[in-house]
Amino acid sequence: MNISYDKENRLFSIRTASSLYQIQVDQLGYLRHVYYGKDLGEENLTYINHSYDIGFSGNPYEWRVERIDSPDVIPQEYPSYGSGDYRITAAYVRNQDGSRCAQFRYSCHEITKGKYTLNGLPASYDEDDDCETLTIHLEDSVSGLTLLLYYGVFAKRNIITRAAEFKNTGTTPVTLEQAGSACLDLPYGNWDLIHFHGRHLLERQPERIAVPHLVTDIGSNRGMSSHQHNPFVILADHEATEDRGNCYGMMFMYSGSFLAQVERDQTDAVRVVMGIHPSDFCWTLNQSETFVTPEVILTWAEGLTALSHNYHDFIRQNVTRGDYQFSHRPVLINSWEANYFDIEKDRVMRLAEEAAALGIEMFVLDDGWFKGRNDDNAGLGDWFENTEKLPEGLGPLIQGINQAGLKFGIWIEPEMVNEDSDLYRAHPDWAFTIPGRDPIMGRNQLVLDMSRSEVVEYLYRVLFNLLNDHPIDYIKWDMNRCLGNVYSHGLPADRQGEVMHRYVLGVYELIDRLETAFPHVLFEGCAGGGGRFDAGMLYYTPQIWCSDDTDPLERILIQNGTSYGYPPSTMGAHVSASPNHQTGRSTLMRTRAITAMSGAFGYELDLETLTEDEKNEIRADIIQYHADEEVLLNGRFYRLEDVRSGNYAAWMSVSEDRSSAIVSLVMKDIQLCPQFVHISLKGLDEQAQYYIREDDAFHSGAALMHAGYTFQLLMGDYRAVQLHLTRK
Ligand code: DGJ
Repeated sequence: MNISYDKENRLFSIRTASSLYQIQVDQLGYLRHVYYGKDLGEENLTYINHSYDIGFSGNPYEWRVERIDSPDVIPQEYPSYGSGDYRITAAYVRNQDGSRCAQFRYSCHEITKGKYTLNGLPASYDEDDDCETLTIHLEDSVSGLTLLLYYGVFAKRNIITRAAEFKNTGTTPVTLEQAGSACLDLPYGNWDLIHFHGRHLLERQPERIAVPHLVTDIGSNRGMSSHQHNPFVILADHEATEDRGNCYGMMFMYSGSFLAQVERDQTDAVRVVMGIHPSDFCWTLNQSETFVTPEVILTWAEGLTALSHNYHDFIRQNVTRGDYQFSHRPVLINSWEANYFDIEKDRVMRLAEEAAALGIEMFVLDDGWFKGRNDDNAGLGDWFENTEKLPEGLGPLIQGINQAGLKFGIWIEPEMVNEDSDLYRAHPDWAFTIPGRDPIMGRNQLVLDMSRSEVVEYLYRVLFNLLNDHPIDYIKWDMNRCLGNVYSHGLPADRQGEVMHRYVLGVYELIDRLETAFPHVLFEGCAGGGGRFDAGMLYYTPQIWCSDDTDPLERILIQNGTSYGYPPSTMGAHVSASPNHQTGRSTLMRTRAITAMSGAFGYELDLETLTEDEKNEIRADIIQYHADEEVLLNGRFYRLEDVRSGNYAAWMSVSEDRSSAIVSLVMKDIQLCPQFVHISLKGLDEQAQYYIREDDAFHSGAALMHAGYTFQLLMGDYRAVQLHLTRK
């Protein structure tokens, strides 16, 4: 067993391949966090934490005389407001008498084989009998509120998942004003926080700061995980690098508003709490009702690369699902940057035929194909073909595309509605609006109230028919505005605090039902690019359109930032036109192709405008991608340089058995003096000889990693290059 309980010391030890996590139940039943980090064998590590009564911190009633300890300085597994811990908290409970307090104490526990599930929520799963679950029961004896803390232990993957479940076993209602998923206390150390901020067109940019003596909030109150902040944080030793130092990751498996708080307290201890954002959350539990929180995925590793590898493996093996989890993702042509809203059968067919001739495998009809949709002011909600644009309907178009030899995919944005749509005219109360107020708009659209079962049911029926009536192989599921004025016309005033979370549950239910009905369909997530790029969506969509910015020199920054937590196979990446439509920058086809190939690969440009040379290059790139896809998408990914500094970006992928590797280098700026770039490679077999195809030369793994490799910059058009290494 990887979870053990030492009865005498009331000590839980959780072991993964290289980490150890210890929790102790103290004399009063507080659940103390003891240790998380490198596995140190059969040690009881409780000796590292001292008891002390610190001024103005308070003691539990039982210790009012001895003043043994204060919850304010105890490292805890799940702190709650009102327990004498004044730091950031995981649970904020309002009782029926108006008091705000919960004091959870241990009551019992279970250790079971397999992984817990979370009703209505995405949760990682055990794919090969690797997982065990520790469930610790706590209780607030006054209100009768019980709390179950779940720990899913994936030993092989060095991952521990956490979630919490509240149950009202009392006789009066209790209200959760905050219900965090997990807390991690690091009582000692000198920690940096790495978080991933951004905006539309520049998502997930890493920022590293020393944890200050403040509360730092990283979160989204937008109803989506957001472009601005990703639900993923890393705590790294101040000295930690890609290859060394203690690194902890906390990733939230949730796609709605979230809050990750980080505090360095009066004793220099650091606490991180992660969960649903409390600002738009309030959930009353009547007698016997339960509330379950989303999951947090925790890992510990030495160095940022190892931490990323833990997440990459876990997301590929234990989060993503379905027919396309591991299999080849069709190289696609997306109509958006080629045609925008100008969907017309002949034009679409010309693009499809050009695509087929180049070796592209799937045509994706993006926005603009449905009723009333000529620009972004109308039509959302009416998921029926636009008979003005496609007089014969979708059927003959798809047939033509299939006859050209391509699969067919289509764009939808199910959660949205335009005021100018039949759906809105029929059901204005299905959209979020606050009575008596003009709604805040985004892209001139409103958000459907996915907390209402009739809305989910309606969308399910319409989308079921779309998928059932046509041979559709792929769905791009978009979402192009943040939630605002969240008010459900289907719930009473005192339950409006549930709506934000119920919205997310409704989205999950809809996509889950459609995937169950159409398991062969590949779903790609999207929210104006990467506005909902999180482990929650990845449970349903094994790839997500990484960003609306397709300029390769910006994309390398976005894909690099994304790679800290998410594997290349999850990042939708396309070759688009030059000059680029977002930035106006011109880049070579090679630069665009090498960048896009490090993700789920496709094209998004008007192929009719290309020269014969460019088309030949695309043909060759697609052949190469087929040969390299396994290593590029599923191999070990190494960031070779900090792509935000210097004038080039470099990364590499190495097959699991280290027999082949691909190194990618993209120049961001050309300075021909010095005329070389020198890089140390990573992840190779030191003892082996590697053949470098591009040089027709052999070098040892040790030489390439320690002496490095020198790229020669040639005069002229040298902008991007790949090296293919094969072990002798
Ligand atoms: C935003 C997406 O990110 C784009 O790729 C495209 O699908 C547009 N929406 C269409 O409206």
